[in-house]
Amino acid sequence: MEKLFELSHQNPALFVDILESIKDAILITDHEGTTLWLNSASEEMHGIPRNKITGRNVRDLEKEGLFEPSVLRMTLEEGKNVSTVQTVGNGKKYIATGHLVKNKDGKVIAAVAHLRDITDAVKNTSKLQEIEELLEKYSAQIRKLTNMQKNSNRAEYVNFGGKSKSRVSARKIIEKIAAVDTTALIVGETGTGKSLTAEKIHMLSKRKNGPFIQINCASLPDSLLESELFGYEKGSFTGATSKGKQGLIQAAETGTLFLDEIGEMPIHLQTKILHFLQSKTYMPIGAREPRYADVRIIAATNRDLEGMLAEGTFRSDLFYRLNILTVKMPALRESRDDIKDLAIYFLDLYNGKYNKSKHFSEGVLKNFLQYSWPGNVRELENLIERLVILSEDKVIEEKDLPQKMIRRNMLSSSPSHSNHATMPEILEEMEKKMIIDALEKENSTRKAAKYLGVTQSLLMRRIRKYNIQLVVEASKSFVK
Ligand SMILES: Nc1ncnc2c1ncn2[C@@H]1O[C@H](COP(=O)(O)OP(=O)(O)OP(=O)(O)O)[C@@H](O)[C@H]1O
Ligand SMILES: [Mg+2]
Repeated sequence: MEKLFELSHQNPALFVDILESIKDAILITDHEGTTLWLNSASEEMHGIPRNKITGRNVRDLEKEGLFEPSVLRMTLEEGKNVSTVQTVGNGKKYIATGHLVKNKDGKVIAAVAHLRDITDAVKNTSKLQEIEELLEKYSAQIRKLTNMQKNSNRAEYVNFGGKSKSRVSARKIIEKIAAVDTTALIVGETGTGKSLTAEKIHMLSKRKNGPFIQINCASLPDSLLESELFGYEKGSFTGATSKGKQGLIQAAETGTLFLDEIGEMPIHLQTKILHFLQSKTYMPIGAREPRYADVRIIAATNRDLEGMLAEGTFRSDLFYRLNILTVKMPALRESRDDIKDLAIYFLDLYNGKYNKSKHFSEGVLKNFLQYSWPGNVRELENLIERLVILSEDKVIEEKDLPQKMIRRNMLSSSPSHSNHATMPEILEEMEKKMIIDALEKENSTRKAAKYLGVTQSLLMRRIRKYNIQLVVEASKSFVK
């Protein structure tokens, strides 16, 4: 202290220099609020030269909108130190604290305001809040869509009929899974009916009067997925200021929670889910006490989970826990005996919906039987809906089918390959076919490239080379 006084003796402006070196804004007034001095940071903050502020009373400056509210006016009025958030003329936000300086007798002789810029912090917080609100909006929409899908009642009346060996055996397993109350896993390619099956299992189970809640683990970023699933406590992280939020696990109480695309779930959430499966308890984000929920978990994936175990991207203990009861939904090309029945089922459905009475020609049904159906039942259903709407005549003919089906069938049956085509021609044709299949299956060039084990730029070059057209439909993209 003495040393400091000594220094100040040598340099009478020492304390002013110190205050000038501070990045936070400092403003000093006398006991009436008349400005005596402010540092450069404060000058910069107000954006006007200090000689336009010194000598003026903070009450007048406040009226002119230089700051809102004046922390020093408040401090002097209340006779004690005050903290507030102050907005300055340029819209920036500051944490402002006013301090009273008193003499030996306790009389106020001056007041000092100290202001720190919190604009960025506030922005981040409100951004988080915006995200939270958006998320809330989307989850509501997803729930609404889920309910709409439920209202269509397909899961209720679909009997998973079908006489192919693979479908008969899948049906038997589905019935067994529905009769017990343990975790189950549904595997199968895209469009084979995994989501429908999950709902069907719920409806056949003793939980049928409880809620059926589903979430697609691939559809949300990791942190949002966690808060969606487990919920969070009030004020557990910046931005989670409001009320806290119930997670889907709680929302599914007494019912079934369907974790779709579980292969996309990040490892740390796999751990939390495994814990829930083992104990029926979980921790909402920021909670101190575990919560109990009576929920059955059904998971589905089109990924090769066993392959992911080796890569370390899926926890083996969770896999074995899920894999106790597994049903594999057959790909259409592996259950060709069902194609005709399913085609007629969808034809009736869409004839009814669009008030038409169309039929398939023999040739069309033959094409259906030969085609590889990379998009499985979904592809068959979408195609038939389109054919019912778009075909001109009562009878749906081969000419109404998409080029790719006819071309593909020619490829598999044409003698030209064995007799006349050169090896490079056949290889190119195969490459093209693989690309089309992958694009149809994965619905995006990024995922298709991953599926094929090539880079996205190589895939894009091949798409251009073969002039494959990417067509965007209402809900997904596919190729022709
Ligand atoms: N046996 C069936 N009977 C009638 N419709 C079916 C049948 N199986 C599947 N579908 C229909 O096919 C479409 C795809 O089914 P679903 O969404 O259940 O497949 P998925 O395997 O979950 O696909 P993804 O892997 O892309 O999520 C849906 O419209 C579904 O109603
Ligand atoms: Mg699905």
